[in-house]
Amino acid sequence: MSEHLTVVNHPLVQHKLTLMREKDTSTAGFRRLLREISLLLAYEVTRGLDLTTKHIETPICAMDAPILDGKKLALISILRAGNGLLDGILELIPAARVGFIGLYRDPATLKPVQYYYKVPAELEERIVIVVDPMLATGNSSVAAIDLLKKSGARNIRFLCLLAAPEGIKRMTEAHPDVPIVTAAVDSHLNAHGYIVPGLGDAGDRMFGTK
Ligand code: URA
Repeated sequence: MSEHLTVVNHPLVQHKLTLMREKDTSTAGFRRLLREISLLLAYEVTRGLDLTTKHIETPICAMDAPILDGKKLALISILRAGNGLLDGILELIPAARVGFIGLYRDPATLKPVQYYYKVPAELEERIVIVVDPMLATGNSSVAAIDLLKKSGARNIRFLCLLAAPEGIKRMTEAHPDVPIVTAAVDSHLNAHGYIVPGLGDAGDRMFGTK
């Protein structure tokens, strides 16, 4: 991936995102849409993966056919909302390795603090896709990618559903080597750190906790 920011403006993605934004969409509906949209976003974020060839026999003849090259991808979910995107992507890439990063915001310093970190081995040899539906301030995404780089990851992509300009700026400054793929870039963050117009709290909406 070379371009730093990719906005997936496919009509199906945009249509589903509008339905997800609507405040009256049910938890079940939101979850179904998130699963569907994550398949389409996964298609985009995996564009340009390296291929090699495998010698196979079709019922007609032998051929050298394209097949993914290299070690299995690593999908890293930033808890908890990342799990909603993760489930759909795993349907498309079932052999991917999976990691989880849990961060909370320290009320005194407002800095992200790690409470859970479990990632696949040999990250330095894998393409690593970090998933979190909402790129808001960018603080947790930047902290998660800091940790992954410390674990050796070198080839990282970031996948989200919605991004705020503030989060894109923060990520671009901290990790200019990490391409961002999103379905939309919204207007701004409000005083509570929510994306405007956004879709509300992605975790609450997908897990029905509000
Ligand atoms: N996280 C969310 O779930 N929603 C926002 O708007 C911002 C961060």
